[in-house]
Amino acid sequence: MIRQNEQICLFILSGEHDTLPQAELCAILESENFSYTVKNREKRILVMEVDPEGARRATKRAGLVNQASVVAFESASEEDAILHSLRRIDFSLWVHPGSRFGVKVTRIKREPVEFNVDELQGKIGSVIWQALEGQVEISLTSPDVLFLGVINGNRFFFGPQLATRDRKVFSKRRSPLRPFFVPSAIHPKIARVLVNLSRAKPCSEFFDPFCGTGGLLLEAAEIGCIPVGFDIDISMLAGSQQNLSHYEVQFYGCLADAREPPIRNGIVKAIAMDPPYGRSSSTRGTTISKLIQASLASFAPILKPGGFLCLALPLEYFRENMIPSESFIIREMHTMRIHRSLRRHIVVLERK
Ligand SMILES: C[S@@+](CC[C@H](N)C(=O)[O-])C[C@H]1O[C@@H](n2cnc3c(N)ncnc32)[C@H](O)[C@@H]1O
Repeated sequence: MIRQNEQICLFILSGEHDTLPQAELCAILESENFSYTVKNREKRILVMEVDPEGARRATKRAGLVNQASVVAFESASEEDAILHSLRRIDFSLWVHPGSRFGVKVTRIKREPVEFNVDELQGKIGSVIWQALEGQVEISLTSPDVLFLGVINGNRFFFGPQLATRDRKVFSKRRSPLRPFFVPSAIHPKIARVLVNLSRAKPCSEFFDPFCGTGGLLLEAAEIGCIPVGFDIDISMLAGSQQNLSHYEVQFYGCLADAREPPIRNGIVKAIAMDPPYGRSSSTRGTTISKLIQASLASFAPILKPGGFLCLALPLEYFRENMIPSESFIIREMHTMRIHRSLRRHIVVLERK
């Protein structure tokens, strides 16, 4: 674990799910060897002691983390308290003479505050500018350092922003925009979360034994993994190949049954899978339970001890006895509503 420069950092999590954003963030930090301690979690706000470099990388990599910043101070959400705390901060730690800084204040809860947020933003900018004796410029459009003020009910957090998620990246890779599309393809943001929960590491192989149109493989490649996919259906495998080539990703694919994967034992560290469940993709004559049970049994010897397998399937098909308990520890379970008649269950298993 990297434990060089831990500081208090604040994350604004996506409001799309209660448990997945924090789970995804922690999984990425684990996979990138950053130690962390969760200090506080309140709805979309998570405060953690972590190396800011880990916080930055995790936010860039995550599907469900909106932004990260260092906490220079935390105070009551009152103008006097905020300006008082602000005057005690040494801003030269972050803003160097001749550079540009900006200030953005954002509100998480919609409760009213007793000050004007835009005016407060201006006052904060003046305090910082004065503290740095006017040797810096204020820029809202292209600052070298953006200071982020976050109002969360009666608490205010302030510090330099480390990273923000580009909201458009996933929509650019939406399955209907790819050359090969079938309705069973998973949304890129969810695919990214599954890959991250599998603790996949950049420059290491990531396996998807039911690769379909290659949705998980594309996200794994985006974070720097080597994507390896199997599918029992040659047309799906060819479709994956087509999609990955479209995004200029090298594809390592194989026509294979997930119940008999052609891989040596003990070499895989990260697997995520979105098996068929007979609605828009076929289980080919077997039942979902049997298919998952047999696949998990066949992947157990292949996964290295300490390796992870992330499984997504409709809630109604999940049974705890599908999981070979002699081989896996259940590390996490999350349930996600997809639409009125589909709730997806996400299970994260660690190889014993
Ligand atoms: C739900 S789809 C996967 C969708 C994929 N995540 C995507 O983004 O396109 C399930 C895939 O599993 C494949 N499949 C079904 N039975 C299989 C088996 N026994 N071994 C490997 N693949 C199988 C199907 O051909 C299908 O492509």
